[in-house]
Amino acid sequence: MRYIAYGGDGSAASLHLAQAPTPTPDAGELLIEVHCAGVNRPDLMQRQGRYPPPPGASPILGLEVAGIVAARGADVGDWELGQPVCALVPGGGYADFCVTPAGQALPIPPGLSMAQAAGLPEVWFTVWANLVELAGLGAGERLLVHGGSSGIGLAALQLARELKAEAVFTVGSPEKARFCLAYGARAAIEYRHEDFAAAIDQLYGGEGVDVVLDMIGAPYLTRNVRVLRRGGRLVFIAFQQGSRGELDLREILARRLHLTGSAMRPRSIAEKTAIRDALRRRIWPALADGRVRAHVHASFPIEEARRAHELMERGEHIGKLVLQVRG
Ligand SMILES: NC(=O)c1ccc[n+]([C@@H]2O[C@H](COP(=O)([O-])OP(=O)(O)OC[C@H]3O[C@@H](n4cnc5c(N)ncnc54)[C@H](OP(=O)(O)O)[C@@H]3O)[C@@H](O)[C@H]2O)c1
Repeated sequence: MRYIAYGGDGSAASLHLAQAPTPTPDAGELLIEVHCAGVNRPDLMQRQGRYPPPPGASPILGLEVAGIVAARGADVGDWELGQPVCALVPGGGYADFCVTPAGQALPIPPGLSMAQAAGLPEVWFTVWANLVELAGLGAGERLLVHGGSSGIGLAALQLARELKAEAVFTVGSPEKARFCLAYGARAAIEYRHEDFAAAIDQLYGGEGVDVVLDMIGAPYLTRNVRVLRRGGRLVFIAFQQGSRGELDLREILARRLHLTGSAMRPRSIAEKTAIRDALRRRIWPALADGRVRAHVHASFPIEEARRAHELMERGEHIGKLVLQVRG
């Protein structure tokens, strides 16, 4: 099969097509003929050697795919050969074929293209795990999401709406602000020109928010904590600008704050299956009836994976980038 390899220098320019044996599914696994693969920032980090795949995972890039079931291992339940499917995969998505635990696969919601479906699993598994399970975001609460126009950000915005919570975003340009507002954000704060903490103070009269979803890290730490109101939760999903910071711990005590976070990839298959089941129950019907949308900014033929990575590095996209592997 064809797959996308990368060179030792870890540059986007080193991404190229190569050949490898087609994997075979073990018990509990599906082999997917990949039609589209989602591109995620963790793929860029893996290419740069900063996010090695966990033990046992395919070393090939790619954390999510959409395609059709091409082969079944034993005990995979009622998945049928030829059935359209999308999946959170342990790795290996940038390829003609990819194996995944059956418990991480989901049907393609009616009306969605393969490209749209390929961009669902990574962001939805991540926001569900972090906002619902860790932060316990609830009805009537306020959420601040950094990077609102990212794939993760747009999923977080729509999840907040499904939970009847209110979402505020930081974004890097007026165009991204307009986009997030049109998606239903209460406010979009342009972080290059405004101090987000001051903007939150102004928006909520100094009261703050209940949950912050952070992907920036060190330079935002004190302000993220400051904008949390009593009982607030700060959830880390990445540290784009550093993971070491200093904090006055008295703030945690005084306002009973919770600091938490998680990474999706190292979680067990059982945990991912439980998240899959929750998404299938709560979010997949909303995707089917159009209440929740999947926004693909651009899709590239697999041999042009380099262009997709370069676009993500420039940060010019809104929502998801996708590789077209077949068709
Ligand atoms: N923990 C997990 O399991 C997990 C899983 C998947 C992804 N992630 C992380 O989630 C993040 C989003 O992933 P993605 O694939 O959706 O990537 P992406 O589309 O490239 O998003 C990156 C986002 O970071 C924002 N950003 C950069 N600097 C910022 C700053 N100073 N202030 C506020 N926002 C800033 C960008 O905003 P602008 O473009 O508006 O500048 C952009 O929206 C990444 O950091 C990724 O590593 C974590």
